[in-house]
Amino acid sequence: MNAVVLYMSKYGSTKQYAEWIAEELGADIFRADSFPAENFASYDTVIFGGAVFGGAIMGIAKISENMHILKDKRLIVFTVGITPPNAEKILADLLEKNYTDSMMKHAETFHFQGALEYKNLTLGHKILLKMINSSMRNKLDLHQNHVSRDAVMPLINSLKKE
Ligand SMILES: Cc1cc2nc3c(=O)[nH]c(=O)nc-3n(C[C@H](O)[C@H](O)[C@H](O)COP(=O)(O)O)c2cc1C
Repeated sequence: MNAVVLYMSKYGSTKQYAEWIAEELGADIFRADSFPAENFASYDTVIFGGAVFGGAIMGIAKISENMHILKDKRLIVFTVGITPPNAEKILADLLEKNYTDSMMKHAETFHFQGALEYKNLTLGHKILLKMINSSMRNKLDLHQNHVSRDAVMPLINSLKKE
């Protein structure tokens, strides 16, 4: 397998998951915005990981805009958000909103749970989350970390199976 792992991360959890995956597979790894699309030609397997903010998968355009190349490769996308991996409806809606038809057809998707640590957030994100929490009955926990190396194993096993 000749694999590349691309990622877009703001606070580090998606980057951490990408590093673990690249290590498990012996794959190359790059931030998606520093990877020129012409370099996809060097790989038969592409794994993309994007952090989720406000229902948008960060950097997903790197995949959606290159599906004409990626549809002929093994394509795996993983998302990282605070949503638990068993929240099926929320995660199905996330794909509905962020995936093109071609991605729906060709990409295998995994969801990993990230972290939320209030003191690390940008001022803008702090204000946003305070506002969201003041309007919600079930408040978001602003100190949580679910990042775990074990979580990547289903993705690794799926790739190693074939
Ligand atoms: C302003 C803001 C909005 C967020 N929106 C979502 C969201 O819509 N869905 C979700 O699952 N997680 C959401 N999160 C949680 C992030 O996805 C989580 O912190 C993730 O670990 C970030 O990845 P990163 O560390 O790679 O940047 C949000 C976090 C912040 C600060």
